[in-house]
Amino acid sequence: MRGSASAPGKAILLGEHAVVYTKPALAIPLPQLRAVASFRPAEQPLTIQAADLPGRSWQWGAGDSSDPLGKMATLSLRHLGCDAPKGEITIRSAIPIASGLGSGAAVSAALGRAIAALCHVEIPNVELNALVYEVEKLHHGTPSGIDNRTVVFEQPIYFQRGQPIESIRPPRRLNFLLADTGVPALTRETVAAVRRLLREEPERTQSQLDQIASAVDSARAALEAADVFRLGAMMTANHGFLRDLGVSSPALDTLATAAIQAGALGAKLSGGGRGGHIIALVEADTTWSVRQALQTAGALRIHAASLGG
Ligand code: MEV
Repeated sequence: MRGSASAPGKAILLGEHAVVYTKPALAIPLPQLRAVASFRPAEQPLTIQAADLPGRSWQWGAGDSSDPLGKMATLSLRHLGCDAPKGEITIRSAIPIASGLGSGAAVSAALGRAIAALCHVEIPNVELNALVYEVEKLHHGTPSGIDNRTVVFEQPIYFQRGQPIESIRPPRRLNFLLADTGVPALTRETVAAVRRLLREEPERTQSQLDQIASAVDSARAALEAADVFRLGAMMTANHGFLRDLGVSSPALDTLATAAIQAGALGAKLSGGGRGGHIIALVEADTTWSVRQALQTAGALRIHAASLGG
């Protein structure tokens, strides 16, 4: 059987970093930006090629099982009880790497689904989510689990570690623009930097994490009431708290400011920070001007995303 399996990228609306410390966060899937794993049966043992991930390939019995592709493949095969897999998997991803959009989780999820298909078994999302989380530890060190949860279930969520996941749905469509600084940044490093800050300046850092948590809850209420002004204000406030935590960068600040000056209702970095993307809340009549301003301010790529409606 040949075919393909996929998973979307994700964007964090509010709450990154604080979510690692059991605070809540809001995240949405990005259905238009996907990692796709095409699979076909073959005579030889399973091989995996990942064209958009330079130098990345893996072969059953010969490949390194400690890199993310190898780890996802070996974990999935073991979990599925599939001992002598044969076939070829080619992964292509439209999700920029190391840029806060969940590329690692999406590639792992698409790969897990393709392996299950080659092994002629179904893999329920709950099980896939747990496997992808294990691989996220290689990418992020101490991941909260929000990336894998958003990507595997492909649902907008209010996420808090250890609590039941709640889905979110605004009463009307909300539009966002994601703009890429073009600077790759490793989430593992920014998460480690916040952890260091928490050790060195516990009171101040804890209070910033608490402020992020309040902004998330206020944003959720605003989102569910379609109060775009309040939602935008909370996003911008969240950017300020993240900047205080040391995970913004001049390029992220420049893009966020450009978006707001051009009429966005709010803007903030999204994901691990120090590079990657900003996310801006826009209305239909300001989308064009915000897009233009982001381009002028140096955005490498701009993607539209929406929620509800
Ligand atoms: C990364 O997309 C979001 C962070 O909060 C890390 C995590 O939640 O694992 C920075």
